[in-house]
Amino acid sequence: MNNVLIKNIKQLLTIKGPKRARIGKELSDLGIIDNAAIYIENGKIKYYGRENDIFRKIKNKKIYEINASGVVLPSFIDCHTHLVFAKPRLIDFELRIKGYDYLQIKKMGGGINKSSKDIKEASKDELISNLVYFSKKFIECGTTVAEVKSGYGLDFNSEIKILETVKQTKNKVNIDLISTFLGAHSVPDNFSNSKDYLDYLKKELIPYVSKNNLARYVDIFCEKGYFSPEESIDYLNFAKRYGLIPKLHAEQLSRSGGSYVAFKVKAKTADHLDFANEDDIKLLKKSKTVSVFLPSSNYFLGIKRYPDANKFIENGNIIALATDFNPGTSPCWNMQFVISAAVTQMKMKIEHAIIASTYNAAFALDLHLNKGMIDEGMDADIAIMDIKDYREIAYYFGSNLNKITLKNGFIIYEKASSF
Ligand code: NIG
Ligand code: FE
Repeated sequence: MNNVLIKNIKQLLTIKGPKRARIGKELSDLGIIDNAAIYIENGKIKYYGRENDIFRKIKNKKIYEINASGVVLPSFIDCHTHLVFAKPRLIDFELRIKGYDYLQIKKMGGGINKSSKDIKEASKDELISNLVYFSKKFIECGTTVAEVKSGYGLDFNSEIKILETVKQTKNKVNIDLISTFLGAHSVPDNFSNSKDYLDYLKKELIPYVSKNNLARYVDIFCEKGYFSPEESIDYLNFAKRYGLIPKLHAEQLSRSGGSYVAFKVKAKTADHLDFANEDDIKLLKKSKTVSVFLPSSNYFLGIKRYPDANKFIENGNIIALATDFNPGTSPCWNMQFVISAAVTQMKMKIEHAIIASTYNAAFALDLHLNKGMIDEGMDADIAIMDIKDYREIAYYFGSNLNKITLKNGFIIYEKASSF
């Protein structure tokens, strides 16, 4: 029996609303209850509301009590990460500080293909222990679900090694890991062109990944120097026939045509979108594709340009935020930083950024019927923040404000007290 009462909640952000992605003005409604409590039974939220009302409802029950003394919200859902890699890319990092850009560093032997070399040298056990280590970092910061892309393998054995790493790590960590097959991340050095490599992925990898249930989603890097829009449409349509749900890296380094691809294949998400223009925004709305912004990658790359998030919101598009955690463009596992960057750099409203990191992120991973809001019957995946006002999540940037993470009603992280 796991009956838990979270009491003394200064502000409870329920994010309560319809069980579908929130758009436009709905993104401002955090459903705040002051002086609140939550009662959890068997991993699900049973009651929530004003503390006195909840106390009355649970009289005589045997319960475990948590004194929140802070802000409580649904835990973060990170809908875009590249969590399985072998080594950080510190040389790329230093080159970029010297002024080289992403494509120049790629030509100098860095970039995705360098991470691919590192993955080939690593054993599955090493990758599992890296993934366990990073999963704990996510949990500490209040994240309880992470999408995980392959894409640093770039050949059959290494791509499968990554996806099996994810599969085998799932029962070792308290975060939900959702796999995406991103074999089409870059053309490996032993292929002379993108077409031959995509043919190889279609023939060897997609059927195997699908048959062995190794991924729910399929992704492609639609970008100059990587994969063209035509190739992306063909590839994602092919993968769809194998039951994989399409998503893509779109308009990241240039206006690459990724939004058109998303429209044509009805992609679940199109991610980055730094260079998306008004036509792209309209197309993404038509296909009901979630636009996922990844501002920590812009920050880390030192790019001044960010997607015009407010245009997407004004147009009624579905939006979400994520870390893009990866060794090349975003070594950041903290959704609180992403929220802060979205607010300060993209001028998103704090409320919008919070919903984009919880309920809409759950929608981006097709989890919104059970996760991302505090309501009766929803999973008790909850973050308790050491702050008095939710706006402080975006305000006190650069540290971890989360003090307790709950998953299915169990405490999976509790910050050590400094007293
Ligand atoms: O989302 N753009 C493609 N993929 C990653 C970067 C991968 C890397 O540089 O290792 C991204 O930014
Ligand atoms: Fe990415």
